[in-house]
Amino acid sequence: MAPMPDDQNLTAMRAYYERGEEEARLADGAAGELEFERTKEIVLRHLPPPPAVVADIGGGPGRYAHWLAGLGYQVVHRDLMPLHVAQLQQARAAGARIDSAVADARQLDLASASVDAVLLLGPLYHLDTRRDRVAALAEAGRIACPGAPVFAAAINRWAMRLDDVLRRRRYQEFPNLETALAPLERTGRITPIYPGSFVGYTHRPDELRAEVRAAGLHLNSLVSVEGPAFLLGDLPARLADPADRRVVMDTIRALEQVPELLGAGTHLLATAVHADQENPENVPARSRS
Ligand SMILES: C[S@@+](CC[C@H](N)C(=O)[O-])C[C@H]1O[C@@H](n2cnc3c(N)ncnc32)[C@H](O)[C@@H]1O
Repeated sequence: MAPMPDDQNLTAMRAYYERGEEEARLADGAAGELEFERTKEIVLRHLPPPPAVVADIGGGPGRYAHWLAGLGYQVVHRDLMPLHVAQLQQARAAGARIDSAVADARQLDLASASVDAVLLLGPLYHLDTRRDRVAALAEAGRIACPGAPVFAAAINRWAMRLDDVLRRRRYQEFPNLETALAPLERTGRITPIYPGSFVGYTHRPDELRAEVRAAGLHLNSLVSVEGPAFLLGDLPARLADPADRRVVMDTIRALEQVPELLGAGTHLLATAVHADQENPENVPARSRS
């Protein structure tokens, strides 16, 4: 693989992930649990049955890769951060089928039409230009077999206002947080609030739709992962109680595709296939979607 030109944004991203905190993120608190459970649920709606090959591109330390391997999938994991690849390899269960390596989502070392599904749950958070994001989406489409689903996650444009400011009151710790909101919501770019803080890119729902289509993919669905439920102050207690948990999850599902509410969560998840593969006759029989 030819090395990709680096840029300021990716350098800042590396500094952030080298702190090593990503490994615990999805297991850290109710908001992480909600993101993980909902993402799994949405992915399972479209995933062909095991032992299909699933590529987890930008898979981080491997939370989804381990889950998929546990279900019997053959997982191909790629991430730009060597630390994340090392963390996945250390945690890999004996016998788990995970092929893991450092690679850039914009230019993968994987053959065309070689996998049965692609998870792209992270690279779009960090690619600063539309050209690079469309390149990563097109690369996901390239490695996907005919009819294979591509799942592409994005951070919602208003996530910082809703999550960091309204829910977590992080302005108490970082007084400059609120002044960062206007430029972020205008440009989509999350700039550092303090040295080493998260940097990235946030999407409006229409922008994610347009990028998916510009990559030559056909958009099957666009949903809000968490919906407004992540704002609940008593979310940990609600998720711990089976009756309350059902209401929370049913409410998120009922609202997940309401156009007016797509921007009211922290993550968006697009499910797509190659535009020239949308003809159901081309979809492999083993695919459920
Ligand atoms: C927030 S983490 C998400 C990890 C995991 N997919 C999840 O959802 O828990 C974003 C991941 O994307 C990776 N990433 C960012 N840009 C990338 C790129 N151009 N190619 C491959 N991985 C990339 C980062 O290294 C990081 O591990």
